[in-house]
Amino acid sequence: MCGIVGYIGNLDSKEILLKGLEKLEYRGYDSAGIAVMNDNGVQVFKEKGRIADLRNIVDEDVMANTGIGHTRWATHGVPSTVNSHPHQSNSGRFTLVHNGVIENYDILKREYLQGVVLKSDTDTEIIVQLIELFVNEGLNTEEAFRKTLTLLKGSYAIALLDAENDETIFVAKNKSPLLVGLGETFNVVASDAMAMLQVTDQYVELMDKEIVIVTKDDVKIQTLNGEAISRDPYTAELDASDIEKGTYPHYMLKEIDEQPLVMRKIIQKYQNDNGELTIDQEIVRAMNDADRIYIIAAGTSYHAGLVGKQFIEKIAKIPVEVHISSEFGYNMPLLSEKPLFIFISQSGETADSRAVLVNVKEMGHKALTITNVPGSTLSREADYTLLLHAGPEIAVASTKAYTAQIAVLSILAEVTARSRGLEIDFNLVQELGIVANAMEVLCDAKEEFEDIARKFLSTTRNAFFIGRGIDFYVGLEGALKLKEISYIQAEGFAGGELKHGTIALIEDGTPIIALATQESVNLGIRGNVKEVVARGANPCIISMKGLETEEDSFIIPEVNEILTPLISVIPLQLISYFAALHRECDVDKPRNLAKSVTVE
Ligand code: M6R
Repeated sequence: MCGIVGYIGNLDSKEILLKGLEKLEYRGYDSAGIAVMNDNGVQVFKEKGRIADLRNIVDEDVMANTGIGHTRWATHGVPSTVNSHPHQSNSGRFTLVHNGVIENYDILKREYLQGVVLKSDTDTEIIVQLIELFVNEGLNTEEAFRKTLTLLKGSYAIALLDAENDETIFVAKNKSPLLVGLGETFNVVASDAMAMLQVTDQYVELMDKEIVIVTKDDVKIQTLNGEAISRDPYTAELDASDIEKGTYPHYMLKEIDEQPLVMRKIIQKYQNDNGELTIDQEIVRAMNDADRIYIIAAGTSYHAGLVGKQFIEKIAKIPVEVHISSEFGYNMPLLSEKPLFIFISQSGETADSRAVLVNVKEMGHKALTITNVPGSTLSREADYTLLLHAGPEIAVASTKAYTAQIAVLSILAEVTARSRGLEIDFNLVQELGIVANAMEVLCDAKEEFEDIARKFLSTTRNAFFIGRGIDFYVGLEGALKLKEISYIQAEGFAGGELKHGTIALIEDGTPIIALATQESVNLGIRGNVKEVVARGANPCIISMKGLETEEDSFIIPEVNEILTPLISVIPLQLISYFAALHRECDVDKPRNLAKSVTVE
């Protein structure tokens, strides 16, 4: 959460910083700011709202070759101009942007900054005031920066300007992501390579507790103790078109439409020359060595994990538990003797999941991360990684990552099962190919989903999603999608569970979205629909071909029963999208949210 950028070179930095922040807006978008530095000192422009609002207040006439910028998701202090970054020390000499949370900021404030007047409610301002304090006590900027960093507890990606040295950006990282980008006559820093792809595709990854002195011609990476570190750059393999909306009105719609393509890419990436699905043998060994698998994830990734449990238990016959990462830390179950942990995370940066990863690694357990972002924190810190190959997902509402996670989990289950000599009565490559085609059919039926959204969701306050078995898990995802972007209060339930309490909420016209894609529970879920209809509910039944009845609102094409979540979710994604659109919500950037949740 929060994104930072920095530029030092020969060009005017304003536009580069603003464009960079636009690409990072997915990380937070309640306020934003830039600070630019030239011979006349540092000028700060910051504003509550979006980057577009910030653009309106930036003075076009100021020319500066060095600058830093920030887009915020508020943690400490309300979204406001005063709380937005950059923050400045009281003399105005030091200016700083920060992504992360300083857990001991209150202690530091009491211990070191008693006499200092703080302007904002943020944890960040403490950092910049401490640097000034230590400089006033006689340290130079680099020493003061180092000393401050050693006092901080928590997470940070920091870029610092010193008005008395317009040739340097001081940078540091711990737990929050940060890259340094390299150019011929400039260097940049960014939370994500996407931000600075406009100027370079060469990046150096920073590790925790590293400090970097960035000038226009040089990048010096050091440990906090000052030991020099040398690290080769890598080429960011991002295509500019991957991160543009193109002709789509929203990233979410583009990403929904990309799902058939992503399925085909996953098949191709995980297929060997004989056409068989394959994954790294070390991962297969780790799966086979485990007596129980623990899937750890949050939000949509947790929902994908619930589906993954079905695959791994049914196909590979290994017991699986699925846990919400933020709960696991406090409420760890009794672990089996030989656990394997699987972390599912689109971003690979989710702090709740990372906290569990750090913990289980300390306990000596093996961990596999399934992520969309190579080199992300969760990928680096786990023993093994499986990539989603879904391309950047920019809309806050996760869509193509969810289906990619499920597809990769199905491959993991299939390859493990084969290695155990278990019989599999379907060809997964073919079945995933059928899924990709079915996805296309669904993506082409947008008008029907728009009608459904209008009919069922245009004015309602709430909505319920019901299903049984694997459909229940997809219902949970449907409810999350709808609530996060349309603000309709939506909940997913196991069909049979409604009458144990929630049915009390059913009123005349309450929309119930029921999934009926599984033969074994078809009668059961239809019985549940009858129960709510008898109490006035307005049912929207989404069934699979072969199980349909006349009362159904939409019939999805037939695919292998165990893979139905890959396609039954698409109507739910599209219905949510259109519901949000009708209600004039900001589809790609829903209120209070951010794409990667890097605070616990
Ligand atoms: O990057 P991650 O997959 O770890 O993110 C987990 C959740 O924050 C994420 O899935 C969130 O629930 C999405 N906004 C849902 O659309």
